[in-house]
Amino acid sequence: MNALGVSQYGQMTAGSYMYIGPQGIVHGTTITVLNAFRKIGKSPEGNLFVTAGLGGMSGAQPKAGNIAGCITVCAEVNPKITQLRLDQGWIDEKLTDLDKLVARVRLAKKNKETVSLAYLGNIVEVWEKFDVEDIHIDLGSDQTSLHNPWAGGYYPCDISFEDANIMMAENPVSFKEKVQETIRRHARAINNHTAKGTYFFDYGNAFLLEASRAGADIMAENGIDFRYQSYVQDIMGPMCFDYGFGPFRWVCTSGNPKDLEKTDIIACEVLEEIKKNSPPEIQQQMADNIQWIKGAQENDLVVGSQARILYADAEGRIKIAQAFNKAIKKGKIGPIVLGRDHHDVSGTDSPFRETSNIYDGSSFTADMAIQNVIGDSFRGATWVSIHNGGGVGWGEVINGGFGMLIDGSKAASKRLKSMLFWDVNNGIARRNWARNDEAIFAIKRAMKNEKKLIVTIPNKVNPSLFENLKN
Ligand SMILES: NC(=O)c1ccc[n+]([C@@H]2O[C@H](COP(=O)([O-])OP(=O)(O)OC[C@H]3O[C@@H](n4cnc5c(N)ncnc54)[C@H](O)[C@@H]3O)[C@@H](O)[C@H]2O)c1
Repeated sequence: MNALGVSQYGQMTAGSYMYIGPQGIVHGTTITVLNAFRKIGKSPEGNLFVTAGLGGMSGAQPKAGNIAGCITVCAEVNPKITQLRLDQGWIDEKLTDLDKLVARVRLAKKNKETVSLAYLGNIVEVWEKFDVEDIHIDLGSDQTSLHNPWAGGYYPCDISFEDANIMMAENPVSFKEKVQETIRRHARAINNHTAKGTYFFDYGNAFLLEASRAGADIMAENGIDFRYQSYVQDIMGPMCFDYGFGPFRWVCTSGNPKDLEKTDIIACEVLEEIKKNSPPEIQQQMADNIQWIKGAQENDLVVGSQARILYADAEGRIKIAQAFNKAIKKGKIGPIVLGRDHHDVSGTDSPFRETSNIYDGSSFTADMAIQNVIGDSFRGATWVSIHNGGGVGWGEVINGGFGMLIDGSKAASKRLKSMLFWDVNNGIARRNWARNDEAIFAIKRAMKNEKKLIVTIPNKVNPSLFENLKN
């Protein structure tokens, strides 16, 4: 189908023509790192985040670590990619020797530096060396391309990058064995660190899935769940998506950087106004995004389209969009296209990532994305898209997206209010039915603010009742 050109592997926002370059992933990764440190009750200052991959998406990790204010060590086996990230300024220093890396990390910890260090080599070497040297890792993750382990997504240990590429092409069976052996070592080293207090999370790259397939010691005691949680289960789900916070985006169709600057100011004013009366549960998310939008021009992440991303809930998205519409009407800025990443509250059904914190058994259904695009189209989206792919792999996810052009008209104001309200609250309703406390809070709040919205609230049942029934 794909070869015939009648189907597409649209990945995430690219599938809905809302790809905005590296800005989206840098922002999302920053929010994840900030919230991960909050989850473990530590400040990023002087604390260590260890991960791997400096590729297309993974390359955002050290930059996000710097914006969050921690020490980041990121391993990458590909010399060209490592040099590119250094040249781009997305990493501060490149090291090729493990003893020097250990010394540099000790110094950074002592001085409480904000610094990103790339290690040119295999990530397993870093986890193992830090274990032997007793370097405490506060946060650990991985963003090698483990959704594609046999064709260059994950490189084995004890073999050079060049030789691994030859082996992959000429002896795929041995390559696969080497990869699986390395994943087992990788998991073992991580387990040693978590036993000493490291918080490890799966970063949506199928690390836990592939580790389990390789026979690594990665399963929980019940033999069904993994020993570690994914970043959506532990961080983004309960701290952002369940509250309705997700990656709202806009593109200035004029292509004029001055328009983008004006929209940044408008969005910041709107968020600051909303924050004054927001409940304590969402104050932190508001504060993070105000800080982001204030620094957005400095971070200099605009590539191509004059576009911006920030995390907002339905109220924030609607109020920002309405303020844009007024500014367009007054001729202060040109028309704008609204959209979002599909890694959001409601856009995606992805049981190994975005819907992984939906525990009512429905995470393997594709209702949310499909309902979303249908609802969005009736409520006035300029275009909608439904597509496959998106990091976790073909067939593992359904994505729904939209684009909405606003032109300063009354009709646009009506459309944006109706559609954005639905687009976010549809997902919160589903998360509420899954009995996620944060989503129950958010949907009750939405119903209070919009009397026409009626959503069934689940009755929570003590799980022990079911256990007793079985016995
Ligand atoms: N959580 C999220 O928000 C999110 C977003 C985007 C992508 N992802 C996932 O993250 C993964 C990476 O995405 P990408 O676009 O950066 O892919 P990529 O292939 O461009 O980059 C992965 C990098 O990891 C390096 N690598 C592989 N094995 C290694 C090893 N053992 N040690 C050190 N480096 C190694 C590769 O050389 C490559 O440069 C994918 O699985 C993707 O689905 C997650």
